Amino acid sequence: MDLTFLLNGERVLLSDISPTTTLLDWLRETRGLTGTKEGCNEGDCGACTVMVQDAAGARALNACILFLPQLQNKAVTTVEGLAGPDGTLHPVQQAMVALDGSQCGFCTPGFVMSMATAHTNGDTNFDDALAGNLCRCTGYAPIVRAAEAAALEPVPDWMAPADLPPPQPASTKAGATPPRWFAPQSLDELAWTYADHPDATLVAGATDVGLWVTKQMRDLGTVIFLNRVTDMGWIEVTDDALHIGAGVTMDRVQSLMVDHSPTYAELIRRYGSSQVRNAATIGGNIANGSPIGDNPPALIALGATLHLRHGNSQRSMPIEEFFIAYGQQDRFPGEFVEAVSIPRGQDRLGCYKLSKRFDQDISAVCGCFNITVEDDKVTKARIAFGGMAGIPKRATTVEQTLIGKDWSADAIATTWDDWSKDFTPMSDMRASADYRLNAARNLLIRYFLDDIGAQTNVLEVQP
Ligand SMILES: Cc1cc2nc3c(=O)[nH]c(=O)nc-3n(C[C@H](O)[C@H](O)[C@H](O)COP(=O)(O)OP(=O)(O)OC[C@H]3O[C@@H](n4cnc5c(N)ncnc54)[C@H](O)[C@@H]3O)c2cc1C
Ligand code: FES
Ligand code: FES
Repeated sequence: MDLTFLLNGERVLLSDISPTTTLLDWLRETRGLTGTKEGCNEGDCGACTVMVQDAAGARALNACILFLPQLQNKAVTTVEGLAGPDGTLHPVQQAMVALDGSQCGFCTPGFVMSMATAHTNGDTNFDDALAGNLCRCTGYAPIVRAAEAAALEPVPDWMAPADLPPPQPASTKAGATPPRWFAPQSLDELAWTYADHPDATLVAGATDVGLWVTKQMRDLGTVIFLNRVTDMGWIEVTDDALHIGAGVTMDRVQSLMVDHSPTYAELIRRYGSSQVRNAATIGGNIANGSPIGDNPPALIALGATLHLRHGNSQRSMPIEEFFIAYGQQDRFPGEFVEAVSIPRGQDRLGCYKLSKRFDQDISAVCGCFNITVEDDKVTKARIAFGGMAGIPKRATTVEQTLIGKDWSADAIATTWDDWSKDFTPMSDMRASADYRLNAARNLLIRYFLDDIGAQTNVLEVQP
């Protein structure tokens, strides 16, 4: 199958590539563009950051976990393509030189590409924009000073997105040489392709699947890419619900939630990094069934409904029923996650992510609370946790103890023994079982204190 995209303004046409060739390997080994660095090869360090533009705008992405077919009809800019045609440095490059933003220089191309993407988008929240780029020697202050200085300069005219390659005709057919891969362009095409090839690996943002290839050296067999399925990437806001297609990226979910559930938006701000949120999809985060994924606890607490499709058949279920046991979800061969719906109502959600690092870290414990209080009494409670069991799971015993009681510290104290009935967490490198259980108990107290307006968040402490 042919593949076309722009690389530093030049049209590239590839035929019969291996679908699991990463952009990073292709740039360095086939094109000799070694400015894009390989650090971790798993999405953690940002040394491989490139800018990818399409009709939706400019995004920073990690080239090490980005497969070439995900670039169809997009424009890729690497550090080699950042300066102007006459060699004039981009404002972020100039500022990095002037303000000593680089020492050994290994991380610098990745930083510069994240900074250039933020510059293009007018994004001046550099703590967030640069959280996915690690520097071991310069320290962040000179780099952030450079980003701030560059923000005062206009976007150079050579950064205007070049004309993107025209859309390709429908292409559900597989590539000619093994391994086979498909790139359906609609939900219908995807449904029939997957029903015909139920053993295929679905690839959405590849922030999990990419690591299966780069770290586990797995052969994915037949691959179906979801990035061209346009009708999987929609968001619809109705009076009753938020409907989110499975292909919506975490970055877009975050933007949506800023208005609808600020605590959910804040949880997503702590999800990976900008590069990861720009690639990862909500459907992939649910479908992988991880017990430490950040969306499921929030979605369970909100009472979300999951929509699945197989061929022409669709079914829906409360999202918590999708997670059966560790590594086991209620999904048939050839069936995929199509969308998720979140009921709208009074926003009572409180989400808390505990991890060893603030940014770019997987949750040790992620607790989400949605407790309704009427006339000072708890009338409804939905409490869900990640990191406390083999699946994302509700604290049903705690919920039942709370319902009907006064919303008070005393009522919360009566739930103390219930937590060990709901959860038997394990000890691992992220946290011990005792820590997890005590943290869960304490997070309910934290939710209560937040609810009554107590000052609890150290991030809010002002000098
Ligand atoms: C550096 C880094 C940091 C991360 N930080 C976090 C974090 O803070 N919080 C967190 O929760 N996760 C984190 N992750 C994990 C990862 O981002 C998520 O699990 C991600 O949401 C997966 O989505 P994706 O679109 O990239 O899925 P992919 O990797 O493409 O797919 C994941 C799985 O889901 C399947 N799949 C994808 N879409 C569908 C669909 N529509 N229907 C059925 N099956 C489907 C795939 O076949 C695969 O089994 C991190 C990952 C990396 C690399
Ligand atoms: S090499 Fe570390 S994020 Fe890609
Ligand atoms: S300048 Fe050396 S790692 Fe950043």
